[in-house]
Amino acid sequence: MKVYQISFSPTGGTKKAADILTGALNGETEVIDLTNAHGNFGSVALTKEDIAVIAVPSYGGRVPGTATERLAKVHGNGARAVLVCVYGNRAYEDTLVEMLDTARQAGFNVIAAVAAIAEHSIARQFAAGRPDAEDSKVLAGFAAQIQAKITAGDTSEPALPGNRPYKKSGGAGMVPKATRDCVGCGICAKECPVGAIDAQDPKKVNGNVCISCMRCVAVCPHSARKVNPVMMTAACVQQDDYAIMKPDNSCGCHLIFWKYIEVCRWLIIENCPGMRLTENYLIGLSATRW
Ligand SMILES: Cc1cc2nc3c(=O)[nH]c(=O)nc-3n(C[C@H](O)[C@H](O)[C@H](O)COP(=O)(O)O)c2cc1C
Ligand code: SF4
Ligand code: SF4
Repeated sequence: MKVYQISFSPTGGTKKAADILTGALNGETEVIDLTNAHGNFGSVALTKEDIAVIAVPSYGGRVPGTATERLAKVHGNGARAVLVCVYGNRAYEDTLVEMLDTARQAGFNVIAAVAAIAEHSIARQFAAGRPDAEDSKVLAGFAAQIQAKITAGDTSEPALPGNRPYKKSGGAGMVPKATRDCVGCGICAKECPVGAIDAQDPKKVNGNVCISCMRCVAVCPHSARKVNPVMMTAACVQQDDYAIMKPDNSCGCHLIFWKYIEVCRWLIIENCPGMRLTENYLIGLSATRW
């Protein structure tokens, strides 16, 4: 019996959670990396005796399409599967039921499912540093319960939260771009899970192919790949409560004010087209919780 860890983890948070769970299960581990753009996933075949820890991040409350496509190619052959949905502390909505459906279609017998929080890969101030020591303890506790279920030979499928049809999937639409600090080393192109970055000229990126996974931002050794700050503000807004207000300033721009305004003060200043919002103006607002 082997324990297969089958994960899609562009920036490592999902893998961290999967590692904690996989490491606590009995059996030799084999890792299948679904972010490998050149992976031959159709050649991965498990047996009925095997266990699979299938881990994906939630993107907009859904399984990333690339992960679904690649997982669907694996041959589960009746292996028992533990699903791990990892999210950035907003919500995971229909991710688990979509994972369940995909895993079933690939021939897995789902016996357990876990939702875990990891640092938000776009807005990294959310759930920063997680999974942390406290999360590790909780995950280890889940792993012990799952191992007990395996040992008892209980193959019942758990009831999972989520809706069918799933919520509409929408791309984050954020395509990180190379900045002037880019030295053209090509690491981002090599690491991109979908081959969206031109290997010969990493400044070129195919926005239609990019899945906004942020791996290129995470792996760049020169911090030279960035998301447009306006798009980033929009992502933060999705993440948290917000208010749109028209500030009393002469350029009259409408800006989106985030709930904890002090955190994104710099973004607001940077993006006010008339540059009329001053630090003082914002400090005046920062006492207000929206
Ligand atoms: C395109 C995209 C969409 C995301 N959507 C959500 C979401 O709907 N809810 C949430 O809580 N976190 C969301 N996140 C955060 C990720 O689920 C979370 O950071 C996860 O740990 C990323 O996995 P990774 O570190 O393995 O790449 C999103 C991240 C990305 C890149
Ligand atoms: S990893 Fe960074 S420095 Fe290297 S090519 Fe990509 S953006 Fe440029
Ligand atoms: S170009 Fe897009 S898909 Fe490729 S690593 Fe960067 S964010 Fe992910």
